[in-house]
Amino acid sequence: MRTEQPKTIRLSEYKVPAYLVDTVDLRFELFDDGARVHSTLSVRLNPESSEVSAPLALDGDSLKLEKVALNGKELAAGDYEETGKQLVIAKVPDQFELTVVTWLEPQNNTRLEGLYRSSGMFCTQCEAEGFRCITYFPDRPDVMARYRTRIEADKSACPVLLSNGNDVDQGDLENGRHFVTWEDPFPKPSYLFALVAGDLVEKQDTFTTCSGRDIDLRIFVEPRNATKCEHAMDSLKRAMRWDEEVYGREYDLDIFMIVAVDDFNMGAMENKGLNIFNSSCVLASQETATDLAFQRIESIVAHEYFHNWSGNRVTCRDWFQLSLKEGFTVFRDSTFSADVGSPTVKRIENVTLLRTAQFAEDAGPMAHPIRPASYMEITNFYTLTIYEKGAEVVRMIHTLLGPELFRKGSDLYFERHDGQAVTTDDFVKAMEDASGRDLTQFRLWYEQAGTPVLKVSDEYDAEQGVYRLTIQQSIPDTPGQTDKKPQHIPFALGLLGAVVKPCRLFLKAVRMLRARQPSACLS
Ligand code: SER
Ligand code: ZN
Repeated sequence: MRTEQPKTIRLSEYKVPAYLVDTVDLRFELFDDGARVHSTLSVRLNPESSEVSAPLALDGDSLKLEKVALNGKELAAGDYEETGKQLVIAKVPDQFELTVVTWLEPQNNTRLEGLYRSSGMFCTQCEAEGFRCITYFPDRPDVMARYRTRIEADKSACPVLLSNGNDVDQGDLENGRHFVTWEDPFPKPSYLFALVAGDLVEKQDTFTTCSGRDIDLRIFVEPRNATKCEHAMDSLKRAMRWDEEVYGREYDLDIFMIVAVDDFNMGAMENKGLNIFNSSCVLASQETATDLAFQRIESIVAHEYFHNWSGNRVTCRDWFQLSLKEGFTVFRDSTFSADVGSPTVKRIENVTLLRTAQFAEDAGPMAHPIRPASYMEITNFYTLTIYEKGAEVVRMIHTLLGPELFRKGSDLYFERHDGQAVTTDDFVKAMEDASGRDLTQFRLWYEQAGTPVLKVSDEYDAEQGVYRLTIQQSIPDTPGQTDKKPQHIPFALGLLGAVVKPCRLFLKAVRMLRARQPSACLS
């Protein structure tokens, strides 16, 4: 029985981490009956933290701790405290190297978080808080580090050993074992860590980026699925080109990998350079898959690829900001699908999902803003509101600014925050700074839950030739939120008539609305 009380985590109580981690050196020894993880962290006091002499508190979950060493010296049991959810070392220097060795049982991990086995293959899922099931670590997205990962396993059971970044070393070991070392030069949060080890076949291709770099593309699947990855590979190349053309974003590593796994909690995951997919979201053949399945694969492959910039290079400061990466990336993938397919069909699909499922969420007991103010369990917040409404909020910024200013805003956002863990407010600020538009009122979209209702009435004064349109906005109460303020909303208007001449437009709710002035109206 679980006896621990769930704790409420509040955005208002956010504090910068007391310690930062610059590099993470991992060594995985994979066996049939378990896995040993050696982790060496270079840690330093965060100059931005006001907590002087804070204890070092690392997150952990269901770990068997074998060893802790500080600057190479093994600590005795009394030198640290292990509480089941944390490893606490009361006294640490301002800068030090910490080694932690843990023992895991991936074969018995049915939560599919952290390191687990699926059909004999070792695989990880670390978003949102799975890395703590692998080793003790400050498992929060604002701790960004450079990772080097060495994987050792039996060569015949696991001929393929993958992790994030570029492969820098490999070789044979005793007893039929072998190793591969991966190095990821880009600092990343722990939720983007990934490892895959198994007997997989690969489909290979290349993509030449806009600056002329050749990227090695690989999709790894179980041998029985070898013929089913062509569509995913084509989709990937289309997505890579589109992100260059529409957002000016070039791929950064030398290799990009996708792995298909049968047992996977989410649809897919954007781990740096090593996306892991539920098989159903990547495999398709003309004989068995429908058009819809082909489109779905294309959009999920694109979504995960686009995260390389919107999520990985610029990541979330904390999990309250989940929509920063998900809302923006869903907006990016639906624009991509509209561009490569039918914009009308895609828009109808988006709007139908929003109206049938997200509006219902917004009207029910689970209603929450796209940037929630508190949560107990972050895994419950991978919702339609965060993803789909979050994407519509970004779409509204796009509508208000227009494509050129929006692109200026996204360029500024990526340049200003490259390598940082930021907030939705930083995103809106970049859009404001690049466009010169005031989005103060617009920010309420991030804070208030519920679907706004617009009441529109109009009158036409034929004598004066004046058409008056009155728009009232109300937002229903939602759990914990009443008396909401009206939200800045784009409102497109066009008037058609037999005789055309310039018109005057009166907006009574002018602070909330930005209307496109119609060029003509009924006379
Ligand atoms: N981060 C993952 C995704 O949205 C989780 O679903 O792609
Ligand atoms: Zn996503």
